[in-house]
Amino acid sequence: MPNISNLFFRTAVLFLLVGIALGLMMSITGDHNVIGAHAHINLLGWVTSALFGGYYALNPAKAAGRLPMAQYLVYVVGVTVMSLALYFLLLGNTAMVPLVAGSSLLTFAGVILFAWIVWAPAASATRSPLAA
Ligand code: HEM
Ligand code: HEM
Repeated sequence: MPNISNLFFRTAVLFLLVGIALGLMMSITGDHNVIGAHAHINLLGWVTSALFGGYYALNPAKAAGRLPMAQYLVYVVGVTVMSLALYFLLLGNTAMVPLVAGSSLLTFAGVILFAWIVWAPAASATRSPLAA
């Protein structure tokens, strides 16, 4: 499995641990205020990161070079900051609004980079198992 896939899966499972812990906290306390942070930590952090990791594992040619690592950094920093800022915003800290907005745009930039990687021709000649 390419390094970048491993990195995405390792990061994804950390988001899952945090996302589930937050879900359990909501269930136990009965206070569902932070539902948006829980939903996005799980869906952007766990599900989407694992999908990115899966794509790179199935397409090693697309995992080569610096662009996938740049995509990883932009996306993961975006989702991490967005998750934290959204959590505090939902607890009532309205000063977090610009940080939520900025980090959401950074997350989106990570997705745009991923779309570019998916659509651009692969740099190396390695064949994708999907292209059989
Ligand atoms: C043991 C694990 C989990 C617990 C205890 C848990 C708990 C909760 C709770 C208490 C809510 C609020 C429900 C409400 O107020 O209507 C919620 C919402 C939600 N959870 Fe989880 N959750 C868990 C795992 C997950 C996972 C793994 C995902 C995604 C992969 C996920 C996605 C969501 C989403 C998207 C919502 C929002 C649903 C909506 O908008 O109605 N949860 N969860
Ligand atoms: C940067 C990317 C994203 C932004 C800025 C964003 C923003 C939002 C906003 C503003 C809401 C409404 C929250 C509310 O009414 O309280 C929302 C809800 C939701 N989003 Fe996203 N979203 C993003 C990505 C995603 C992705 C990729 C998924 C699924 C894979 C997703 C799943 C959901 C779900 C299930 C809800 C309803 C849960 C809730 O009630 O909080 N979002 N999102």
